[in-house]
Amino acid sequence: MFQVGIFYGGPSSEHDVSCASAKSVLRNLSRDRYIVHAIGVTRSRRFMLLPPEAVEYARNEPAPSVPIADRLPIGGIPVELIPHRADGSLSVVHAQDPAHQVARIDVAFPVMHGAFGEDGVIQGLLEAYGVCYVGSGVAASAVGMDKVAMKRVFAAEGIPVTPYVALHAERLAAIRDAKISDNSNTGISNTSTTLIPLLNTLRWPLFVKPAAGGSSIGVVRVTDPAELAGAITHALARDTTVIVEQAVNNAREIRCGVLAGADGVLRTSMPAEIKVDGGVLDYRQKYEAVDSRLSVPADLPGPVTQRVRELSIQAFDAAGAYGLARVDFLWDQAADELFVNEINTMPGFTARSSFARAWEAGGVPLPQLLSWLIDQALLRPARHPDIATRHLEGSAS
Ligand SMILES: Nc1ncnc2c1ncn2[C@@H]1O[C@H](COP(=O)(O)OP(=O)(O)O)[C@@H](O)[C@H]1O
Ligand SMILES: [Mg+2]
Repeated sequence: MFQVGIFYGGPSSEHDVSCASAKSVLRNLSRDRYIVHAIGVTRSRRFMLLPPEAVEYARNEPAPSVPIADRLPIGGIPVELIPHRADGSLSVVHAQDPAHQVARIDVAFPVMHGAFGEDGVIQGLLEAYGVCYVGSGVAASAVGMDKVAMKRVFAAEGIPVTPYVALHAERLAAIRDAKISDNSNTGISNTSTTLIPLLNTLRWPLFVKPAAGGSSIGVVRVTDPAELAGAITHALARDTTVIVEQAVNNAREIRCGVLAGADGVLRTSMPAEIKVDGGVLDYRQKYEAVDSRLSVPADLPGPVTQRVRELSIQAFDAAGAYGLARVDFLWDQAADELFVNEINTMPGFTARSSFARAWEAGGVPLPQLLSWLIDQALLRPARHPDIATRHLEGSAS
């Protein structure tokens, strides 16, 4: 049996969401097919192996009604990872006693959202170790995590995105400093005055977001120009790059899952719709009241469903994703304008999440979906010759 290492937690603002996703993965992974280890990543990026009895306990605990409350704790033994390049496995050793191997991993599953887990960082670490892992590689993960890079990639492929302006902290500081040395005004509010001509290319209201955000953290809808500087400052507290974009009128939020494996075939789920109150799908709406908000399949005209599915595949390809992704849309129904808002290379994985529910509605229950993802990770065409050899040997045996 293959040994799977579930990586979860991490330093990002979506730490808790990852812990909830991991609990769901742990609960739904087939024990007939895999030996499962849970490796928590602390907020300070240390690896901790959850003891097997804690894994079993967490697996069998009944799920509470609020998904985000259903979190896999991080704890147990502090560990380090040591690659075995000959067979592509990873030794999990005691941090204080590296001769003591506490687990072995054939395939990693980074069930992590946001910085470190979904942006190419852990993917790069696993690539360097020569270990198979579930999901997108370094470049696609990085593109999916950076809303500016993502929009550029989509636009270059003719995928409709909302008009936007990217702002960089250093650039804003340079404008501000120039103002100070001019003996004119100071501070960010004046920076925004300087930016007004640039931002005037956008129709109000606007959305201000940290470029590498997630779970709506730091996202603000701005209707009043007097609030713009505050929103930019708020977003800059979370990232050095901020994106200001045009709001889609009365946006309906549609999501579509994509699966793509080693056979090169891309499959889309039925589109799901998530109902939004107050113009912004905030953290609370996403994770506390998701059941009543989610419609699967989305009630859409046939041609819109078709376009959602086609654009999902185009977005997946444009980002260069692998394994899985969820593509999120904003649809202005009155104008019948459909925009790709973002691609998530590691969507939320709780049983109530739109990704799991959309596949389930299409006849793929979560345990089957997870087995498929892990198998595709093992089959993934390798970039490193040593791994390629292993795969050839594996397929010959
Ligand atoms: N251009 C937009 N027009 C309308 N609503 C938007 C727009 N951008 C974001 N939103 C709202 O804000 C939410 C969070 O923004 P999003 O870009 O998805 O960030 P995150 O990566 O944090 O999920 C969206 O789900 C949607 O409700
Ligand atoms: Mg979103």
